[in-house]
Amino acid sequence: MVRRHSQMMALLMGLLLAQLVSAGSPRINYLLHCSGCHLPGAEGNPPNVPTLHHELGRMMNVHEMREYLVRVPGSAQSALSDADLAAVVNWLLIEFNADTLPPEFELLSTDEVSAARKAILANPLEYRITHWRNYGE
Ligand code: HEC
Repeated sequence: MVRRHSQMMALLMGLLLAQLVSAGSPRINYLLHCSGCHLPGAEGNPPNVPTLHHELGRMMNVHEMREYLVRVPGSAQSALSDADLAAVVNWLLIEFNADTLPPEFELLSTDEVSAARKAILANPLEYRITHWRNYGE
């Protein structure tokens, strides 16, 4: 009986782990696919890797900058599915940019991400300066 119980527990733990890793909560997907550069707390390592705090929310006032979030190479070329990438970016916006998001902000949809990420930015900085501003401005 004790043995059956521990086998059951092991099975449950396994299922739980598998779900955490594959069904991918946005936080776990962020840790797996983005945190290597942007760090686990998303504070980045400026000037080499930008922070993902506060400014992304302000960017959402500009249409072109919605797409920018998934056209930068780190996003666009990640192994995440379109739906999972949308979830990660929406999570970043809510988790670290809630204070700067416009009130009428709408979450990025999977279709929007799917179309946008195909147009990977060859020069993300130039696009950022044209449609938004340089870092630290
Ligand atoms: C290999 C390192 C690396 C990885 C992995 C990475 N990024 Fe980045 N990210 C960068 C760098 C460097 C920039 C600056 C623009 C550029 O040169 O691509 C950047 C820029 C960004 C920006 C724009 C920030 C701004 O202020 O302009 C966003 C949003 C972003 N990344 C999101 C992500 C997400 C989401 C993931 C995971 C799916 C990710 N990145 C994975 C290195 C990375």
